[in-house]
Amino acid sequence: MLGIKHPIVQGGMQWVGRAEMTSAVANAGGLGILTALTQPSPEDLRKEIERCRQMTDQPFAVNLTILPTIKPIPYGDYVDVIIDSGIKIIETAGRNPEPFLGAMKAAGIKVIHKCTSIRHALKAESIGCDMVSVDGFECAGHPGEDDVTNLILLPLAAQRLKIPFIASGGFGDGRGLAAALALGADGINMGTRFMATTEAPVHENVKQAMVEASELDTALLFRSLRNTARVFKNSIAEQVLEIEDQEGATNFDDIAPLVKGTRGAVVFERGDMEYGVWSAGMVLGLISDIPSCEALIQRIVDEAQEIITTRLQGLIKPQE
Ligand SMILES: Cc1cc2nc3c(=O)[nH]c(=O)nc-3n(C[C@H](O)[C@H](O)[C@H](O)COP(=O)(O)O)c2cc1C
Repeated sequence: MLGIKHPIVQGGMQWVGRAEMTSAVANAGGLGILTALTQPSPEDLRKEIERCRQMTDQPFAVNLTILPTIKPIPYGDYVDVIIDSGIKIIETAGRNPEPFLGAMKAAGIKVIHKCTSIRHALKAESIGCDMVSVDGFECAGHPGEDDVTNLILLPLAAQRLKIPFIASGGFGDGRGLAAALALGADGINMGTRFMATTEAPVHENVKQAMVEASELDTALLFRSLRNTARVFKNSIAEQVLEIEDQEGATNFDDIAPLVKGTRGAVVFERGDMEYGVWSAGMVLGLISDIPSCEALIQRIVDEAQEIITTRLQGLIKPQE
C-alpha cells in the first residue's frame, strides 16, 4: 500500500522529522516521515518537502499532529501544502483527523492515523483511514491515559480491525519486528530508535545519552493534567514531577516555562541536556549504538528473518 521495501516506519518527531532524517529512512527502504509542525509555517513545509525530494527519489510521508495549542495553528493551510506538494501518505496523530480527511482522500492520499487505544483505532477505521499505527504505553511522546501495553493492544487490533495496522512504541530491533508481525501487525513504527542514528539531525550529546540510558530513564509528565507525555528523565523532567506531586491540582502555568517545546529544540541543537524536556521511549534500554539508518533497518530485517526462519521454524515439529 505504501510502496516501501521494508515494513519499518519512522514516526513523526517534532524537531527531528526533517529532510535529513526522512530521506535517510526512505533511501534505506523504510517509510520516512517529515513532521509538518517542525516547520514554522506552511510555506516552510513546502520548502522542506522540496528539500527532501532532492535527497531521495523514494516515497515519504508527512506527519500532521493535531493537538490543542496555546497559539492557534493553521492546520488547514498545512494540509493544503501537503496536498499541493503531491505527498501521497500522511500520518495523522492527536485529535480526530476527520475535518481534513475528505480533502486528503480526494487527493488520493493514504492516511495512517496514530492512536493509543482500540476505540480510537476503530473510530479511525470507521471514518475512512487507510491504516492505523497502534501506539502502546511503551512509546515516546503521548501514550494516552489507558496505560495498555502492546502485548495487549496489538492482538486486540488484530482481532477487531479490518484495515492494516502498524505496531508502534517500544520497537528497536529484529526481535521486536518478528514479535509485532506475530501479534498481527503489518510492520513497526519507531521514533526513539531512529533518533540514535548517524543521520538524525540532533546533537551528538543526545545520541550518546540515549546509548547510555536504560529502560528506566523515561518519565511520565503531565499525568495530573490527563495529557501524559513520556520523556527522557533529566533534571527538568524531575522538577516537573515534583511540581505535579504537590498537593492540589497542578497549575499548568507553574510548569509551562520548564516544558516549552522550544526548550526541547535547544537540547537537540546545542546538546545542552538539562535545558528542556524531550520525548523518548522505554526502548532506550535496547539502544547501544548509533548506526546509519541503512545499517539499522537492514539489521532489524535480517534479525527478524533469522528469528522467523530459524528459531521459530525450529520450534515446529515436522508434520508426520
Ligand atoms: C523526539 C520525539 C518527538 C516526537 N514527536 C511526535 C510528534 O510531533 N507527533 C507525533 O505524532 N508523534 C511524535 N512522536 C512519537 C513517534 O512518532 C512514535 O509514535 C513513538 O516514538 C513510538 O515509540 P518509540 O519511541 O518507542 O519508538 C515523537 C517521538 C519522539 C522520540
